[in-house]
Order: sequence, then structure tokens, then C-alpha cells
Amino acid sequence: MVPASMSDPHLTDPLSRRLDEAVAAIRARAPQGFVPSVGVVLGSGLGAFGDTVAARAGAKIPYHDIGLPSSAIVGHAGNLCVGDVGSVKVACLQGRVHGYEGHSPDRVVFAVRALARWGCKAFILTNAAGGVNPALEPGDLMLLADHLNLMGWNPLSGPNDDKLGARFVDLTVAYDKDLRAEAHAAARDANVVLREGVYCALSGPTYETPAEVRMLRVLGADAVGMSTVPEVVALRHLGVRCVAISCITNKGAGLSQGLLDHAEVQEVADRTRAGFVGVLERLVVRIGTRP
Ligand code: HPA
Repeated sequence: MVPASMSDPHLTDPLSRRLDEAVAAIRARAPQGFVPSVGVVLGSGLGAFGDTVAARAGAKIPYHDIGLPSSAIVGHAGNLCVGDVGSVKVACLQGRVHGYEGHSPDRVVFAVRALARWGCKAFILTNAAGGVNPALEPGDLMLLADHLNLMGWNPLSGPNDDKLGARFVDLTVAYDKDLRAEAHAAARDANVVLREGVYCALSGPTYETPAEVRMLRVLGADAVGMSTVPEVVALRHLGVRCVAISCITNKGAGLSQGLLDHAEVQEVADRTRAGFVGVLERLVVRIGTRP
């Protein structure tokens, strides 16, 4: 991780104050009185969902305008999209920042923390991932049943603000059981096959070696990626319920004949978009209209 300068407010100001400032900036740009109940983090290829949401009596606010960090990665636009899906008020992060870009752990999870502070009680997180389980094919969707954090860092390291959450956070059920059941129901409604498995987060930015993919399989992983786990950890710290879905964009290194590249990841994510968005729309409504 690149050390941020000590003048960076992300290091020097208390987290709760920075979150209050971010929420105030968001409120000033969002439709009057808008309070979201569901947060969505849009991974590679899903940005279009944010545009659809913003077009429904909502707003599309560049991260830059509200003090949220932006990503330099193709496919991660950098806008907060707010609006209605059915009767449900939704806040979507159109693109996320990653630790491998040099962002501190605090910055990687700042936007989801801000949306939770604004009102989101549940989050749907999405990502692109490589298949480690040989049964997973490019284009498959996989619901996260659990995760392995092999990133080498945790966003809760450092002093804990007891007003935000506990020092030691239980992750026995990191991915909410009821929300997972809703995800399966949403996929059935959308006529989309939704698999389920364990996601392993590595720091990236390199893809894995074939030996690493074989190791991850032995460790119990079904898919591997470079995101999502820090956000889920930060949200569980705040007591926010989470559900997450991976788009399997490629077989893990060594499990297919070819080599891996980001263009292929994007291409498969784009191809899978219609089915994925169908599941997301239904899942948002199911989550937002149930207690
Ligand atoms: N490995 C890690 N991250 C990924 C992959 C992969 O194979 N595909 C998409 N994101």
C-alpha cells in the first residue's frame, strides 16, 4: 500500500467526522429528502445499472464532487447513482477503488461506509472473478456463501471507533442468510442460473499463477478476485447486511488453454450484463420491500 501523506484528511480526521461531511455533501447533490435503503456496489461491466437507476427520478453524482475517491481502472466509472427501483430507494456506487491502485484500506471502504451512514441498511456487492472451481464457466453468476481474505490486510486494522462497531467483528455469517435466499429467488424469477460458492480475495493486481489457483482450490475457494471482501468486512463492522454476487469472467489461470487479460474479463462481464441486471433489479426490490 502506498503510504498516504500525513496531510491527507483520510489519516488525520476522525472517521465519523469525515463520514458526516461526506453524507452532507451527498445530501446536497441528491434529490431533496432522498434516503436510500439499499446500497449497490457495481463491479466491472455493471455500470449501466447505475445509469438506469439515476434515470428514474434520481441523480448521477461524480465521486469527485462529493469527496469520494475515484478509480483509474477501465470499467469503474466513479459516480454515485441514486434513484428508485420500483418503490425502493437505491444508492449505487458505479465503480470502486482497489488497494492495488495505491488507495489506503480506509479509502477502499470509505464510500460504502458513507452510504451506510446515509441510510443503506443492506448492500448488494458485485464483482468480476476468476473460476477456481473447474465446474464454473465464464459467464456464470456465483452467489458468495463465504469468503477467504488472503489480501494480507483488513480495513478494520488500526484504532477502533467503538461508536461505529465492535473491535472484534463476528463473520460467522458474513453474507446474510435471508438475503442469500432472496438472491436465489430473484435469479429464479429472472430465469438466470445462480451458483453459490466461496470467494477468495487476493490483493492483485497480478492475476494468479496456475500453482496459486491450485492452492486456492485446496484451501476451499470456488472463485478468486481482488475486491469486495474489504467492503463486506467494513459493512459487517457497522452491522449492515450484505449479499454479494460474482460474475465469473474467466477460468482461473491454468484451468483453460488461454492467457488472462482485462479485456477478456470486461468482454465476458459485458456479455453477462443483461442476466446480471435482471437479477439485481429483482433482488433490490425483494430486499427493499421486506422487513
Ligand atoms: N483472478 C483475479 N481477479 C479476477 C480474475 C481472476 O482470474 N478474473 C476477474 N477478476
